[in-house]
Amino acid sequence: MARYREYNPQRDRESVHRIWREIGWLQEGQEEAADTLIGGGRAVVAEVQGEAECLVATVPGSIRYVKDDLPFSNVASVGTSRIARKQGLAKGLTAAAIAHDAAQGKAVCGLGMFEQGFYNMLGFGTGSYEKWAALDPRSIRVKAEAGIPSRLTVKDWEKVYQSRLNRVRGHGACNIHAPECTRGEMAWLKNSFGLGYFRNGQLTHHIWFNTEKVERGPYNVEWMAYQTYQQFCELMALIKTLEDQVRLVTLREPPSIQVQDLLESPFRIRQLTEKSAYENRMQANAYWQMRILDLEECMKKTHLPHGEVTFNLVLSDPIESLVPADAAWKGISGNYRVRLGSCSFAEEGKDETLPTLKASVGAFTRLWLGVRPASSLAATDDVHGAQELLEDLDQIVCVPEPHPDWDF
Ligand SMILES: CC(C)(COP(=O)(O)OP(=O)(O)OC[C@H]1O[C@@H](n2cnc3c(N)ncnc32)[C@H](O)[C@@H]1OP(=O)(O)O)[C@@H](O)C(=O)NCCC(=O)NCCS
Repeated sequence: MARYREYNPQRDRESVHRIWREIGWLQEGQEEAADTLIGGGRAVVAEVQGEAECLVATVPGSIRYVKDDLPFSNVASVGTSRIARKQGLAKGLTAAAIAHDAAQGKAVCGLGMFEQGFYNMLGFGTGSYEKWAALDPRSIRVKAEAGIPSRLTVKDWEKVYQSRLNRVRGHGACNIHAPECTRGEMAWLKNSFGLGYFRNGQLTHHIWFNTEKVERGPYNVEWMAYQTYQQFCELMALIKTLEDQVRLVTLREPPSIQVQDLLESPFRIRQLTEKSAYENRMQANAYWQMRILDLEECMKKTHLPHGEVTFNLVLSDPIESLVPADAAWKGISGNYRVRLGSCSFAEEGKDETLPTLKASVGAFTRLWLGVRPASSLAATDDVHGAQELLEDLDQIVCVPEPHPDWDF
């Protein structure tokens, strides 16, 4: 039987590096950055025969629901060594880590998945598609001109972190409250570099790039941060200044922006570069997942102006069977009375006069976040209710598409 305990850097550093090496995450020279990332939040290990063979790390943060912020936990990494697979360690240790963060007051949990299905067993539901553009910087057309930027290196990590926190944030946007993790990410890849703009000593907008091929690209925009759309346009103009040398830049489409608006002849260039090393394209992937940890708190921060609906919610939460027996939080299965509207709430109980919605926590999280409407989730996910109730929910939960805008 494995023992779960907090990560201890003196005792576990080498075993945890071994886990990450066996997975293929850790290459020679990245050890210090790995320590920074693991130390940035809370890490727990499962011990087998006296050594750490599974590591789960979570970091605190916040998530924006329309205009309100909720306390957030990010499952930043889950990994099991080669000798300890399929023993239930990753599931059990992740459930224990989530239960800890939920008991500490985190209302929502989110992660980047390796595949759909695994974290569904812990109550997670799949988020919106993220679109990735691969484009020739020469095809960028923006009215803005780029000023001379400042070079940014790992030494600037505190300014970069602050600039990320201060960026424009829309519905679903997450901030990770672990400055060391930004430092670790910046130090992780050997050719990464930043370019950005300061005003009164504050880094207002910047891009953090990485590339494996410095001479011709592709260059990957790991992240960009800006406080206004003029600043965003300046950053796009800055990418364009690289056009004489760099053949391809990849970036995640920023929330609320349609990158294609800024491209010259996008279809022509996509057809001409098809199947080449510098193929211009647009790809969509739904790779992040979220789940509600505290239903009452999430509903309290939900203000929806398009009407109001009150219903019974019968919520099932599969994490219940995985959390340790002594955990203070054991999932959120139960019967609730829920109102969604300008003044929303959830309270335990049942009212025979109200319509009933049955859902898994993952599917209800998707409905609440606005990933997809209730009616279509009733067709494709674990949501069940009368047509009239589903239609009311479709109309009332009318929020912008959620995007964390911070990859994890
Ligand atoms: C993914 C990983 C963490 C799982 O570790 P593990 O300790 O073997 O996992 P567990 O034993 O808790 O769970 C394995 C179970 O999940 C199941 N499973 C795995 N992927 C699944 C999926 N996509 N959908 C449904 N079930 C899945 C397995 O079939 C297995 O089922 P079983 O218990 O009935 O045999 C491990 O394979 C790993 O470290 N991979 C490389 C790193 C990685 O991808 N980490 C995740 C980053 S998001």
